[in-house]
Amino acid sequence: MPNIYSNIINFNSNSTKKIIKILSKNGIIGLPTETVYGLAANAYSETAIKKVYSAKKRIKRNPLIIHYYDLNRAKKDVILDNKFYKLYKKFSPGPITYIVKKKKNSKIKSIASANLKTVGIRFPKNKIIRKILKKIRFPLAMPSANKSSSISPVSAEDVSDEFKNRIKVVDGGYSKIGIESTVLNLVGSTCILRPGKITTDDVESVLGQKIKISYNKKIIKSPGMLKKHYSPGIPVKLNCKNASNKDAFIVFGKKYKKGKNIFNLSHKGDLKQAAKNLYKTMRKIKKLNFKKIRVVKIPNQNIGIAINDRLTKASNK
Ligand code: TXA
Ligand code: MG
Repeated sequence: MPNIYSNIINFNSNSTKKIIKILSKNGIIGLPTETVYGLAANAYSETAIKKVYSAKKRIKRNPLIIHYYDLNRAKKDVILDNKFYKLYKKFSPGPITYIVKKKKNSKIKSIASANLKTVGIRFPKNKIIRKILKKIRFPLAMPSANKSSSISPVSAEDVSDEFKNRIKVVDGGYSKIGIESTVLNLVGSTCILRPGKITTDDVESVLGQKIKISYNKKIIKSPGMLKKHYSPGIPVKLNCKNASNKDAFIVFGKKYKKGKNIFNLSHKGDLKQAAKNLYKTMRKIKKLNFKKIRVVKIPNQNIGIAINDRLTKASNK
């Protein structure tokens, strides 16, 4: 029987060489990060970046996040200010993307950042991606490794399911956080464009100023804001108190009983655990062939804000 996951590769010294070769020759590959799996390409190569847009069927005006190993490398491409340094010291490497100004002589290809004057940069924490970033001499443009408008992958198998074996992916187990990075705009007014594990409170405590979550409808600053995004492909209804046996029922907390159609994001009511289980659960429900998803109200605090953001987008028709 053919192995449906024959494109998944284990991470070891042999495969490291192979991964680096793929990336250096302008190929693309799925890689684990602490948030979700990414589809990686050399950010200095137009050929490689075009492959990412095409594989994801992503619109060209939706910029990619550029991933760096460290500050010294990032400094060559972008302009960094004091605000950035304070935040970097506290949160990076980690699940946060900073929107900063691009340098005129930046080597990042314009199409990677949708011809904008700004660029989203992130310093991921996951050990595998850091080992790879350390060894290559270019940063990685890396969107989540899913088809546009679908939900992000949190395992190598998920990536495989998205691209039907056409793209190699490195196995790094389940993503620790399970939800995409916080996107923080540092050009003009400081605001969060996409909520994540690092919250407004976290950023406020470092900067000593009020931070808003901005959902600007006119400019698609962060196409995580595109209306139909993060869709599991079946209707999702939020803030439900119950569900029929036919529908998948996503719940949170210990008051819910077990059942074939009941999927508890966290029995102990832990929002971080719920975030980690969110996309995994949605994919499971889809595979089990449920036709509808109902979700209970999830507390809108800490990472719960990001969970509700993704659920709201998943529920948009
Ligand atoms: O956790 C993550 O951020 C994952 C992992 C793989 O690192 N990546 C990820 O990439 O979620 P993607 O492409 O799925 O989402 C990137 C988000 C989009 O909403 C995009 O619009 C926004 O970042 N973004 C990137 N560059 C931007 C810029 N210059 N200005 C505003 N938003 C930007
Ligand atoms: Mg994405």
